[in-house]
Amino acid sequence: MKPLTVCSTNFDQELSSVSLRFIVEDIISSPDENRSEVLGYIASGFINTGDSVISSITGKQSIVENITKSEKPVDTIGLGDKATISLLGNAGIRMGDVLAAAGMECEFSDQIAANILWSGKEELLPERTYTARFISMEVDVQVTDIVYRSAPDSSEQLAAKTLSLSQSGYCKLALDSAVLFDAYSDNSSTGVFELKDKFTEHILGVGKIDFALRRASNIGWHAMKIDKAFRARLNHQKPCVLWFTGFSGSGKSTIADQVEQKLGAAGKRTYLLDGDNVRHGLNKDLGFTDEGRVENIRRIAEVSRLMVDVGLIVITSFISPFRAERQMARELMEKDEFIEVFVDTPIDVCEHRDPKGLYKKARRGELANFTGIDSEYEPPNSAEITLLGDGDSADTLADQVIDYLDQI
Ligand code: ADX
Repeated sequence: MKPLTVCSTNFDQELSSVSLRFIVEDIISSPDENRSEVLGYIASGFINTGDSVISSITGKQSIVENITKSEKPVDTIGLGDKATISLLGNAGIRMGDVLAAAGMECEFSDQIAANILWSGKEELLPERTYTARFISMEVDVQVTDIVYRSAPDSSEQLAAKTLSLSQSGYCKLALDSAVLFDAYSDNSSTGVFELKDKFTEHILGVGKIDFALRRASNIGWHAMKIDKAFRARLNHQKPCVLWFTGFSGSGKSTIADQVEQKLGAAGKRTYLLDGDNVRHGLNKDLGFTDEGRVENIRRIAEVSRLMVDVGLIVITSFISPFRAERQMARELMEKDEFIEVFVDTPIDVCEHRDPKGLYKKARRGELANFTGIDSEYEPPNSAEITLLGDGDSADTLADQVIDYLDQI
């Protein structure tokens, strides 16, 4: 990875502190177990031959025997220098590790609080998955909470549900795995990260880390003896989720209902989660803004995962308009457990059907953020099943889903 340099105009520039941070980019294998060679660069501080360094991941120590910079042996390297260093002692160093002086290792955590300056054209949405590039590692992250947004011209803290272009805010983030970093106040080189779009890799913002939230580190996953495979055997079926997506009025719920009836008749154990129903209970606090929809789908995906774990065939029927959240739901499940069913009914057909009169209301301006009218729908690129919703009957379309399940 290239060195991460985050120099944003709105953030104060501060000098890197001098504590050693050597970012390990490659491990050059060594036949000698008590010796290793690593390639990397200095993000802050310096290294001399004879120094003792610590792996921030393992906490183990080794001694710098030789340093090679631009193919020449040197005694010292400093800020920005790229070099190969040979180390005495087996410290279990890995790629992405950060070498530090004893007692001065990086933080290692999967939950952080940080100031984010957003540069995306689309708003930052809590719970959407973004890619975050830290000094030595890239991981998926979600902003779990925007604690406040900073007023542009004063120190005032404003309430905010999202961050728009050029806004900055103090946020809590959950990372998919622990990463190495420093608080920005301790080290301005290693206390920063970049936020990127998970699919396009476009840079969407930068963050300055305030501190590690330690909460997650003590919450292990308790491995139960009665597990998913055991429950699936009891149920005589392969649990999965059939994730229906499409416009309001596309026929999702009608087809999903038919699929559930056919599975029930075949003795399968199922559960149907439907947008209109779930929005009366679990998700009654959520609206139809982009952030409301992201949170709606996140909760449904988590509930579906639990139900798949129980051993059920779960059928979900939500517009689920955004690719990013459908992908998030897919990644929560194991391979082959997520079956995306795109009910591909053209918007004009849905509008003509208008079973609940909502399209008419939206056209009259009485219903804001209506999908297909003034809120976006991103069709799937590679759904497992695509049903053409303006031709065959719901019964025939449901049979196509059953046929697919019979074949896997
Ligand atoms: S989603 O976009 O968050 O996935 P969901 O499937 O839960 O939406 O809810 C969609 C249902 O809510 C629609 O079938 C419709 O009956 C109703 N609804 C009410 N307001 C809206 C709106 N602004 N946009 C879309 N659907 C709406």
